[in-house]
Amino acid sequence: MSLAAQPQGGRVPQFDQAAVERGKSTFFVNCGFCHGANARGGDGGPDLIRSVLVLDDEEGKQIGAFLKVGRPDKGMQAFPNLTEQQVGDIATWLHSEIYLAANRRTYQIQNIVVGDARAGEAFFNGAGKCNTCHSVAGDLKGIGAKYDAVTLQGRIVMPRGGRGGGGEGLPPGPLPKVTVSYPSGESTSGELIRITDFDVTLRLASGAFRTFNRRDDDVPKVEIKDPLQAHVDMLAKYKDADIHNLTAYLVTLK
Ligand code: HEC
Ligand code: HEC
Repeated sequence: MSLAAQPQGGRVPQFDQAAVERGKSTFFVNCGFCHGANARGGDGGPDLIRSVLVLDDEEGKQIGAFLKVGRPDKGMQAFPNLTEQQVGDIATWLHSEIYLAANRRTYQIQNIVVGDARAGEAFFNGAGKCNTCHSVAGDLKGIGAKYDAVTLQGRIVMPRGGRGGGGEGLPPGPLPKVTVSYPSGESTSGELIRITDFDVTLRLASGAFRTFNRRDDDVPKVEIKDPLQAHVDMLAKYKDADIHNLTAYLVTLK
């Protein structure tokens, strides 16, 4: 963690960085499958960054005791073979993640402050190609008054909301559009609600939901168009500095 990420004033806990790194990889191998690589929760296990058990843990003592027995009846196996050091490393990493999560707001605001609004404007109309879909005189007019800087940055990165972006309590962005069509020519379009290997559920313009069984990869044919694909692609392509400059620019649009 860089010093820029430290909150002003308060006491800053020291984390043994080597232990943090070891804990992160031990966690990834043993626990990430269920709890997510970042411990924010996954398909098989809860978010540990918000776990009271983890919050209350002192240097791995409570986590260690818990891992010896697990909760097998609830899908949490025991890990009796982890060494005390491995448990301590995992605990150190989890505590450092909790600390970072608690201070993320401070961290983001400081990042935004370092953004360069003029560079952001150039990027918006140039390399970022934002102006191919948006206009600062049109749909993004007054966007800097609509959101605070942190939320705005979240909307750029993740307009559909969700973890790590979007802003809590905001309406989600548009859902992907999907068309389901059969060899007979029958076809239905709507918003994609859910898709698995076995079925696909859409919401029709009328608001009604329909679910279609999928027989194989091709029947029925399922075509998905995501209006936010550009934003998804953007995440991979742009540097942090581009995002910070864009935010610095868009907050000026009051
Ligand atoms: C097979 C999936 C799975 C794996 C692997 C797994 N967990 Fe879990 N874990 C769960 C589930 C499910 C729960 C929730 C149990 C419940 O509902 O009480 C849980 C609960 C927990 C809790 C208690 C959270 C709370 O607040 O009650 C902790 C701590 C925890 N896991 C840590 C770990 C660690 C550390 C590892 C790796 C060494 C790990 N888990 C590996 C599925 C898993
Ligand atoms: C291919 C089209 C496309 C491109 C390119 C694109 N966006 Fe978007 N953007 C969208 C769509 C669609 C939405 C969702 C609009 C809605 O919620 O109705 C959106 C939403 C947003 C929002 C949230 C608006 C709000 O009111 O919540 C911001 C901010 C934004 N985009 C900024 C950008 C920036 C900055 C770039 C360039 C780096 C960019 N977009 C590039 C299509 C695009």
